[in-house]
Amino acid sequence: MNERQNIDSSWTQSLSRGQLPNHADLREHLLAVHRDHAGFTESCALRCRDKSGRNSYELLADVVDPIRHSRVLDLACGSGVLLEICSRRCGPNAELTGVDMSAEELALAGQRGLDPTIKLYEGIAQDLCFIADGSFDVVLCHWALTLMDQVPLVLREVKRVLKPDGVFAAIVDGDPATTPGYSEIHDLIYNLVRREQPNFGEIDLGDPRVRTGQALKQLAIESFEGAQLKIEPMVFDLHAPPDVLAREAAGFFYASFMLSPPAHRQMLEELEALFAGQRQAGRSRFALPVNRLVIHH
Ligand SMILES: C[S@@+](CC[C@H](N)C(=O)[O-])C[C@H]1O[C@@H](n2cnc3c(N)ncnc32)[C@H](O)[C@@H]1O
Repeated sequence: MNERQNIDSSWTQSLSRGQLPNHADLREHLLAVHRDHAGFTESCALRCRDKSGRNSYELLADVVDPIRHSRVLDLACGSGVLLEICSRRCGPNAELTGVDMSAEELALAGQRGLDPTIKLYEGIAQDLCFIADGSFDVVLCHWALTLMDQVPLVLREVKRVLKPDGVFAAIVDGDPATTPGYSEIHDLIYNLVRREQPNFGEIDLGDPRVRTGQALKQLAIESFEGAQLKIEPMVFDLHAPPDVLAREAAGFFYASFMLSPPAHRQMLEELEALFAGQRQAGRSRFALPVNRLVIHH
């Protein structure tokens, strides 16, 4: 088996030079991560459940009302899990569309056996020029807004493609302080990355405003003036043996893809030891803080 290679992109190279990466660098980096690890999001997110046993895709799809909504866009749809769930939820009258910038993720979505009427586009959220104004009842975005830059531009595009009474809902990072153990995992991974990339952390992927409820609220208010807006904190758990949790939790952090092979092995060992320290009946817990943003346009 080939050893897993770290992602070397113009984004990581800018970081090494102490320069601020630009929009193109960010896109190149994200494309490289998803080219080499397509489908990694669903591997973890499908298995993380809230107290009622539901995952974050299902919680996001709840926003779609099958009676009132038929036209739904999944923005940054990745490997197509949410489209599959929305298709089941909305039934045969649904008109579903997925957009993602990664050809490899879209290829996975294409292989899922999705309803053939679902349209898939390769494109970027900052420029949805291939979609007409007022096309959708609902726009959903699962675990992707956090990675994007030019977020006001993205929100402007979302607003444009929504019908006047449409709904935008997104799953984004939650507040780590609400979730025991999360900051420890985050810091373990980020500290290892910083040994190889000292400028990492100060500079991270996407727009930091999306990562805190207060700043996200402000962004949303500015973009959707006068709209009804709600940010709901939620926690999703994955219970598994420590070695499985180490792999899944690591995969969840984009930072882990930057580690050299030896540093990546060290991270997995340290994460496994951390999870093993809290094991009960052979299983440990990875808890993920999440915010669900819902805007009624
Ligand atoms: C963490 S994955 C989530 C994928 C999918 N929504 C899911 O949850 O399974 C992030 C996705 O966002 C896509 N993405 C990131 N920035 C994007 C942008 N500016 N425009 C379109 N897609 C983007 C990536 O290609 C990737 O498929």
